[in-house]
Amino acid sequence: MKIGIDKIGFYVPNLYVDMRELATARGIEPDKLTIGIGQEKMAVAPFTQDTVTLAANAALNLLDEADKKAIDLIIFGTESGIDQSKSAAVYVHELVGLASAARSFEIKQACYGATAGIQMAKGHIALNPDSKVLVLASDIARYGLNSPGESTQGAGAVALVISADPKIMVLEDKSAYHTLDIMDFWRPSYSDTAFVDGKFSNEQYILFFETVWKQYRAKSGLAFKDFEALCFHVPYTKMGLKALKPTLQAEGTKEDQERILENYQKSIQYNKVVGNIYTGSLYLSLLSLLEQTAGLEAGSRIGLFSYGSGAVGEFFTGILQPDYQNHLNSTQHKNHLSARRKISVEEYESIFRQELPIDGSTIELDTSKDLAPICLVGMTENKRQYVNKQRMA
Ligand code: HMG
Repeated sequence: MKIGIDKIGFYVPNLYVDMRELATARGIEPDKLTIGIGQEKMAVAPFTQDTVTLAANAALNLLDEADKKAIDLIIFGTESGIDQSKSAAVYVHELVGLASAARSFEIKQACYGATAGIQMAKGHIALNPDSKVLVLASDIARYGLNSPGESTQGAGAVALVISADPKIMVLEDKSAYHTLDIMDFWRPSYSDTAFVDGKFSNEQYILFFETVWKQYRAKSGLAFKDFEALCFHVPYTKMGLKALKPTLQAEGTKEDQERILENYQKSIQYNKVVGNIYTGSLYLSLLSLLEQTAGLEAGSRIGLFSYGSGAVGEFFTGILQPDYQNHLNSTQHKNHLSARRKISVEEYESIFRQELPIDGSTIELDTSKDLAPICLVGMTENKRQYVNKQRMA
C-alpha cells in the first residue's frame, strides 16, 4: 500500500523582525546573521497566538469537509506546548471541528516530534487504509532577549494529512534512525526559554546526519545519484549545508553536487524568512522546495533529515506523485508570507516580555489586530480561552 503526504500547509504569525535591525540593536555585524547564520526575517508570535492557535490556523487552511470526516487520529508534535497534562491536539480538534470518533494526543522529542508523528501515522494508515491522520507540528522558539540563540528563534506551524494513495508524496519504508542521550539543547519544565550548548548542538547535528545517512545507504543501497533533493531540519539555514557539504563532496559526482546544492537553496527560502519553528522546520523546508521548484518531476526521490536535540535523528525518503503541484497552495503561502507586518526590535521585545496570568485571574486580549481566524482571546481560572472567528461570521 502507498502511504504518505496527501496534503501539507503552514501558518506563521503575521509579525516579523528584520534580522539586520536585530543585529544593529545587539551590536552585531548584520552580515553575521544574514550570511553567517543565513536568516533574513524572524517570525514573532503576537500575544494572541500560541502553539495551539498556530496549529489550528494551519489545519483550518488545509482541511475540507471530507478530510474532517475521515480524520480519526490527530497527532500534535510540539516542544513548546501550553499544558503539561491536556494535549494541544484536543484543543485543535474542537477549534477546527473534527469528528468526535478520533484519537488525539501530543508527542515530544524536541524538533523530531512531528517526524515521530508521521511514522506513527503511517502505521495507523497501514491498519486502517480508509482513514486519514492529521499531524500537526507547532512551536514558538524562545532562547531569550540578547542570548546567543536569539537570532535562531521563530514561530509557526505545519499541518500534514497522511493517507493511503497520497496526492503529494509517498513515504518509502526504508528509514534510518539514531538515539543518543546528550545535552545539546533542553528546556526544563520551569523555564519558558531553552538552554543550549550552541557549538556542541551544531557538532551533534552534523554527526547525526553522517550516522543516519551511512546507515540509510547500507540499508537501501541508494546513493546521492538516486536523490533529486535533500531537505533538512532548519534551525537556521546555514545548518543543513554544514552537515550536507562534506558528505556530498566526498561521495557525490559534480552533477550530484550541483543538483542537490541548488535544490538545498530552494528548500530554505521559507525558513530564511520565518526562523526556527522547531518540529515543523523540516516540513516548512519541504514545502519551500516543492513550492519554489517548478522543475521537480513526479517520481523524484526527496531525502528528509529530521533532528531533535537530546537527541534523535532520522533519515527517510519520499517519492513525488503525479500532479503533486496541483495539490499545493503555493500562491496562498507566498501571499501569506509577504502580507506580514514588520515590527521594530522594541515592539518584538515588548511582545517577548508579555506573560499570561499564573494566579487564576482573568485577562481579556484584544484580537482585533490579529488577522488569524483562530486566536487566543484570554484566560480565566487558569483556562486558556480561544475563538474561531469564522464561526462568529
Ligand atoms: P554564535 O556564537 O552566535 O555564532 O552561535 P558564531 O560565532 O558561531 O558565528 C556563526 C557564523 O557566522 C559562523 O560561520 C561565523 O564565521 C559567521 P560558520 O563558521 O559557522 O560557517 N560570521 C560571519 N559571517 C559573515 N559576516 C560576518 C560574520 N561574523 C560571523 N561579519 C549558534 C551561533 C547557531 C550556535 C547560536 O545562534 C545558537 O546557539 N543557536 C541555537 C542552537 C542551534 O540552533 N543549534 C543548531 C543545531 S541543534 C538543532 O538543530 C536542534 C534545535 O532546533 C532544537 C530542537 O531540536 O528542538 C536547536
